[in-house]
Amino acid sequence: MHPTGALKDEKYRPQFHFTPARNWMNDPNGLLYYKGEYHLFFQHNPKENIWGNMSWGHAVSSDLYSWEELPVAIPCTDDVGIFSGSAVIDYENTSGFGSKENPAMVAIYTEHKNDKSSQRQCLAFSLDQGRTFTKYEGNPVLDLQTPDFRDPKVQWIDGQWLMTIALPDLHQISFYSSPNLKEWAHLSDFGPAAEIGGCWECPDLFKLGNKWVLIVSLNPGGYQIGSGTQYFIGEWNGKEFIADDTKTRWLDYGRDNYAGVTFNDAPSNKRIFLGWMSNWEYANKVPTDPWRSAMTLPRELSLEGDRLVQKVLPNKKLPTIKFSTSGGTVRISESEDCYIEIGLADGKIFMDATNTWYEDLKFHRQEIATDKKIVDFEIYIDRGSIELFADGGKVSITNLVFVDTALSSVSTEGDVLDLEVIELA
Ligand code: FRU
Repeated sequence: MHPTGALKDEKYRPQFHFTPARNWMNDPNGLLYYKGEYHLFFQHNPKENIWGNMSWGHAVSSDLYSWEELPVAIPCTDDVGIFSGSAVIDYENTSGFGSKENPAMVAIYTEHKNDKSSQRQCLAFSLDQGRTFTKYEGNPVLDLQTPDFRDPKVQWIDGQWLMTIALPDLHQISFYSSPNLKEWAHLSDFGPAAEIGGCWECPDLFKLGNKWVLIVSLNPGGYQIGSGTQYFIGEWNGKEFIADDTKTRWLDYGRDNYAGVTFNDAPSNKRIFLGWMSNWEYANKVPTDPWRSAMTLPRELSLEGDRLVQKVLPNKKLPTIKFSTSGGTVRISESEDCYIEIGLADGKIFMDATNTWYEDLKFHRQEIATDKKIVDFEIYIDRGSIELFADGGKVSITNLVFVDTALSSVSTEGDVLDLEVIELA
């Protein structure tokens, strides 16, 4: 499992979530599966433990649990940051960067001018499985000459490249198509819709069953404070995304699951999601050193009716608590004053982790109404975080927690059924 060696013992160092060995991380970028490796690129400051010098960090894994961190893949320059984006394998060599025998891995990222005058879309390609990248000499490939245009998600759909990208301050997602990754034609725009209390960022569009899902991150204006992620369900007709409705649907009801997107080309057509486990409200202040931030656990997505369902990819080493209840509480404690409570009360699923936070970043009890009489819970506790899935994965609550040792003792109140506790430290 990641991390190994001395890193394992650092205070609050997650044991089974991806963290960079040192320095700052935010959004997952370029999520891609190729030749037996899952690639996780990420927004990274290679020099400091706060946001800045934005570059693409890189890690690979065969199972999404044990990660090997590689050198920085795409570094910033003195004038520009390498903001969020995606990566594809150009199997048909439409770009001419590689060949059909050795197709290029192409990163499509936002180049952000440090003077904030522009954000434009650029390419970099690799012919050695992401170990080294070359910037395309014809960059940028898409430039609206605007300061707010970012986070392209590119995929090969129905014989063409499709780009899904945010116009953050307009609360819109734009769609573009291309035959070769270099020339892009505008197709349509979606939004404003549902939650518009902050910038729209980091979109993703994908098919689940016979519906299409559009994920949109929003900062601020989330369900709790600060950052949050919403999704829409609808149709994609090759040109436009048509939402079934514009109801608000939150992907997560906690504070710490932002900018999440899914892997391109995952095996067996799986839709696997990773999010950044933090919140712009306090991300730069989180008390970890010499790194900041972890990704969520890998979650397989599916749809049940109009709800997104999230299931953690199985791994036998994960500390887990499972139970069901019609109105009871499970308390997971480090000590008498430091604990988290989870359960069902007055028709609401709740998590209260107030006791695991500091005064200046205070946590408030989180609640989600449910019409279920009995609710099942599945909870994953690592150093520094807790991820709760309720009602078969239709409800997800992800939160950072800071306790000195371990949340290891479990007690119950009220009717708690089928309690199972696996390997808490
Ligand atoms: C989201 C985000 C993106 C941007 C990146 C910069 O967290 O603001 O929109 O590309 O972070 O690091």
